[in-house]
Amino acid sequence: MNELTRWLRAQPSLIGSPPPLELSDLPSDPVTLFETWIRHVARAGVAEPRAMTLATADAAGLPDARTLILKGVDTEGWAFAGPRRSEKGRQLANNPAAALNFWWQPLMRAVRVRGPVREADPEESAADVAGSPAAALHQAGGWVLWRLVPDRIEFWQGSPDRRHVRIVYTHDGDGWTRHT
Ligand SMILES: Cc1cc2nc3c(=O)[nH]c(=O)nc-3n(C[C@H](O)[C@H](O)[C@H](O)COP(=O)(O)O)c2cc1C
Repeated sequence: MNELTRWLRAQPSLIGSPPPLELSDLPSDPVTLFETWIRHVARAGVAEPRAMTLATADAAGLPDARTLILKGVDTEGWAFAGPRRSEKGRQLANNPAAALNFWWQPLMRAVRVRGPVREADPEESAADVAGSPAAALHQAGGWVLWRLVPDRIEFWQGSPDRRHVRIVYTHDGDGWTRHT
């Protein structure tokens, strides 16, 4: 084992203090729980709670991941944006499916979202780029707003005593099923 590996293994992980979580009082849909959690962590001082990891795969199935900003959430899905001529743009054109990850410290809360991805209407993409600091550049290159339409969402809350909590919602055609 090298020095870096030894040092890494000595670093603390899963430190923080999770907020109270009432498992008997969870909403039936995950959008509501996501809204509660992201507003809560923002109020608690988490810097940039909209930052998330987006994972995609290329045509050969090789995975890729990068950090993006969450642009919106509603019953249509989790929105994000970027240039069409980017790796994620090419990968989503070939394989329109993705996963998103959030990790909010020191509240020890994480969210995973997974499902197919749809491109928003051109008007919505144009409205998104209009707010961007490099609007002219992006308009020329083609800016796209995408939505991940989840079929599975996991809410995970760590605990210093390792009694972690996992709440999973799956979509089965006409509604959400919750598993705790
Ligand atoms: C905090 C943060 C937020 C970012 N937000 C975006 C974003 O909303 N859209 C985007 O295209 N790139 C964003 N980036 C840059 C991407 O992480 C990435 O470098 C870039 O999109 C290229 O990814 P790709 O080549 O896989 O498409 C962000 C980076 C960071 C660190």
